[in-house]
Amino acid sequence: MKLTFLGHSAFLLTAPHIKALVDPFLSGNPLAAVPPDAMTEITHIFVTHGHGDHLGDTEMIAKKCDSLVVCNAELSFFLKQKGLRTHAMHIGGRISMEFGSVKMVPALHGSGITVGNEMIYGGNPCGFVIEADGKKVYHAGDTGLTKDMELLAEEGIHAALLPIGGNYTMDIRDAVRSVELIKPKLAIPMHYSTFELIKADPQVFKELVPGAEVRILGIGDSLEL
Ligand code: NI
Ligand code: MN
Repeated sequence: MKLTFLGHSAFLLTAPHIKALVDPFLSGNPLAAVPPDAMTEITHIFVTHGHGDHLGDTEMIAKKCDSLVVCNAELSFFLKQKGLRTHAMHIGGRISMEFGSVKMVPALHGSGITVGNEMIYGGNPCGFVIEADGKKVYHAGDTGLTKDMELLAEEGIHAALLPIGGNYTMDIRDAVRSVELIKPKLAIPMHYSTFELIKADPQVFKELVPGAEVRILGIGDSLEL
């Protein structure tokens, strides 16, 4: 399985039968390395919640690639009305798909969708455990530290993608504690330094994490799991 960091919380995940994006916030991200129209043949888009820096370019990319958008039922309803192909799930649900499986797991956050001057209810925010090519990746979405993360240790997570920027999510200190609960083989920091308010030094995170390898991915960098 190949993971590519596209900036903020956006990742490209490639494995047999899947070329997926998670939280494709590209055109609105001043630091993004690739424009959304560079994305081709995307089979799936996983959206953790309705905030603009996660829903991002989902509509444009899904329409262009006829991607299946996997998200909670409220977001699914919203996106279906825009003509997208969606698969609705909810917290705790797991489903087998052609590439492997996906489980929707809890996140402590919000999920409102901004449309003009209105905020539309976007259901519960979530994280995803995506299994493909015999590897499991946990994308935490936006979340605070929660004791529930302990349950993820039973999954045998290969790579945990964790927000470290603070203010809206876990900061470095809490993200380090989350690694202790989740016990992944590899931890990858995300959701930091895109904006001033979430400025954080991933090197500090790396130095503080015990018992797991930390890989800091620059925007556009890939790794093989
Ligand atoms: Ni958010
Ligand atoms: Mn966010």
